[in-house]
Amino acid sequence: MKKTSIKDCKLIQINQIGDRRGHISVVENQNEIPFSIKRVYYLYDVPSGEERGGHAHKELQQLIVAASGSFDVVVDDGYNKKTFSLNRPNKGLYFPAGLWREINNFSSGATCLVLASHIYQEEDYIREYKTFKTYKKI
Ligand code: TYD
Repeated sequence: MKKTSIKDCKLIQINQIGDRRGHISVVENQNEIPFSIKRVYYLYDVPSGEERGGHAHKELQQLIVAASGSFDVVVDDGYNKKTFSLNRPNKGLYFPAGLWREINNFSSGATCLVLASHIYQEEDYIREYKTFKTYKKI
């Protein structure tokens, strides 16, 4: 987890089943994603110009999806940064542990859906960027 880099972050095309009545996209354990889902959470009602995230996780793996609207996920491995724009419900960002992330540029009405590999544990968070750099041995 300490060695993950931004290259381990991957955009995943999620299947889309649909017709004129609309679409369904499905994510199953170990199928689209390399982990079992233990928790689902979602961010919404984010005021324009606000930023979320600003932390890293030691063990948690996540799949991040713009269930509605759009936003940017800025990934940082301590050396390099990369911005992924999420704007479709059938596109997900696989986000492994050991990376710093910020989520910004939320459109109005955006919903950031997160499928997570563990239940909520504050001990798994690294909330200080300095501590993150030490954790990565940078
Ligand atoms: P946090 O993960 O810091 O939010 P973000 O990364 O979006 O800025 O969580 C915000 C608050 O919500 C914090 O007090 C912890 C709490 N929280 C839970 O209780 N359970 C959860 O599953 C999550 C994701 C957050």
